Amino acid sequence: MSLKLEIEMLEPRKEFALPAGMAGEGTIQFPPLYPEWLGDPEFRRLHAVRFNYVVGEMARGIATPRMVVAAVNAGCMGFYGSAGLGLDEIRAGIAKIQAELSPAQIGWGANLIYSPQHPGQEAATVDLFLETGVARVSASAYMRLSADIVRYSALGLSRGPDGEIARSTHVFAKVSRAEVAEQFMAPAPEKMLRELVESGAITPEQADLAARAPVAADITAEADSGGHTDRRAAAPLFASLSEARDRVCARHDLSPELIRIGLGGGIATPHGVAAAFAMGAAYVLTGSINQACVESGLSLPAREMLAKASPADVAMAPAADMFEQGVEVQVLKRGTLFAMRGKKLHAHYREGLSFETMSEKDRAWLEDVLGEPFSAAWDKTRAFIEKTNPREAERAETDGNKRLALVARRYLFMGAQWAREGDLARKSDYQIWCGPAQGAFNEWVAGSFLEPVENRSIRQIALNLMEGAARLSRAAQLRACGIPMPATAFSYRPLQFSWSGQGR
Ligand SMILES: Cc1cc2nc3c(=O)[nH]c(=O)nc-3n(C[C@H](O)[C@H](O)[C@H](O)COP(=O)(O)O)c2cc1C
Repeated sequence: MSLKLEIEMLEPRKEFALPAGMAGEGTIQFPPLYPEWLGDPEFRRLHAVRFNYVVGEMARGIATPRMVVAAVNAGCMGFYGSAGLGLDEIRAGIAKIQAELSPAQIGWGANLIYSPQHPGQEAATVDLFLETGVARVSASAYMRLSADIVRYSALGLSRGPDGEIARSTHVFAKVSRAEVAEQFMAPAPEKMLRELVESGAITPEQADLAARAPVAADITAEADSGGHTDRRAAAPLFASLSEARDRVCARHDLSPELIRIGLGGGIATPHGVAAAFAMGAAYVLTGSINQACVESGLSLPAREMLAKASPADVAMAPAADMFEQGVEVQVLKRGTLFAMRGKKLHAHYREGLSFETMSEKDRAWLEDVLGEPFSAAWDKTRAFIEKTNPREAERAETDGNKRLALVARRYLFMGAQWAREGDLARKSDYQIWCGPAQGAFNEWVAGSFLEPVENRSIRQIALNLMEGAARLSRAAQLRACGIPMPATAFSYRPLQFSWSGQGR
C-alpha cells in the first residue's frame, strides 16, 4: 500500500472512487475513523479512558503498580496483579498507584481471585479494596458467585439523578464459559442478597438495587491465554457470551446496553484487536505481551526469553497450586525445560509413585531437577507446609506419594520465583506463563523498534495496536463497500509514537 493511501485512509471525509460498474454516484464519502472510537463509547465514559484497551492483571505483582500507571497514562485501563500477594503488599501496591495518578484518572483496578479453598481470603481482600478505594475489580477464576463479590458490587449501587442505577464499584468478570458469565450478567440471587442484608453487609436499599442490575457490567471473554486457560477459540467464545447476554437480558428484563463484553486471550497484533472490535467487543484486553515490557515485574533474562518466542513455543504444564487435581497452566516452552519436567513429575505422581518407589534412574533425574537430595527438598517443603497446612504435612509423613506431590508443588512454585528474580542458575526451570499471543507479537514487531525488549513499553504497544487496528478496520470497511484494496492494506508496521501520543 502506498504511503499516500495509508494516510488518506484515516482522513476525515475522504472521498474514495467506486470501481466502474458499481451502483452509486461514482464516489463514496466516509466519516473519520479514529483509534479512540473503537469499542463501546460508554466504556470510555464510565472508566474515563481514551482507548477501549485494558492491560490485564498478572499474578504476584508481574502486572506492577508501574505497569498500571503506564497503562492509565497512555489513556488505557490497567489492572494490578494482586493475586497471590499478601494483604500488606497489595495495600502498598494500591498506595503506589494512587500516589502516581490524579483522582480523575480512575481507569484502573485490582484483581480478586475466587478462592473457596481459602476461607476468609476473598472477604479480607474485598475489605481492603473497599477501605483503600479500589473502585474497579477484575474478578477471575469464579465457578459460581460468592457472597463477597456480590457484596463488593452491591455496596457501590445508588440511584442516579434521573432515577437510573449508578455504580461506584465496578466488577469486571473474567470468564471463559457462558454458564459462569450468565451469573455475573444477571442480578445477584435473592437469597444471597437477603443474607447480606441480614448480616448487615449491605443495606436493604442496596439489595433492592442489586436485584435490578447485573452483578458485573463489564464481562471479559478470555480465550486461549497465558496462565490458567480453558484455551477457548476467541470467535466462538465471543459469540457464545453475546448469546448469553441476550438470554439473560430477556430473562431479567434488563437492557442489553447495561452489559459490555470485552475480549482477551491471543490479542497481540492489530489484526487481533481489529477482529475483536469487528465482532462487537466493547474493549480488548492484553496479557502475555505486557509481560515482556519494561514495566513488568518479570526479570530481564525471562523477558528476553519471551521476546524470542514464536506462536508455537508454548505448552501446558501442571499448576503449582492444583498439582494433585491435574489443573494445568499455559507456559513458555522455548528456552526452559519447565513444562517437560513438570509433566514428568505429574506422571510419576499419577502412577502413585513416591521417591522411594521410583526407579533408580528416575530418582537420579528428580534429584538433578531439584538440584539437591530429595530429603533436603522435603525438609524445606515440610517446614513450609507445616505452617500453611499442618494436616497435609502430617499426612505426607506416612504417604510417600503425597510427599512427592508436595515437593513437586514447591519446585513448580519456585520455577515462577526464579523467573521473576532472574536466577540465572535456574534458567531451565523458569515457569513463565505465556500464551500464543507473545509469539504472534514477536513476529509482528520483528525488525521494528519494538523488537528489543528495552523498547517494549505498555504505551508504545497499546498505541500501535490501537492505531493499527483503526487502519485495518478502515481497510476492511473500504473493501466491504466494494473498493478494491491491496493485500498490504491489511498489514501495519509498528511506528514510534511521540510522547504526546499524537504524532510519531
Ligand atoms: C504472567 C501472567 C500472569 C497472569 N495472572 C493472572 C491473574 O493473576 N489473574 C487473572 O485473572 N489473570 C491472569 N492472567 C491472565 C491475563 O490477565 C489475561 O487475561 C490473559 O493473559 C490474556 O490472554 P493473553 O495471554 O493471550 O494475552 C495472567 C497472564 C499472564 C501471562
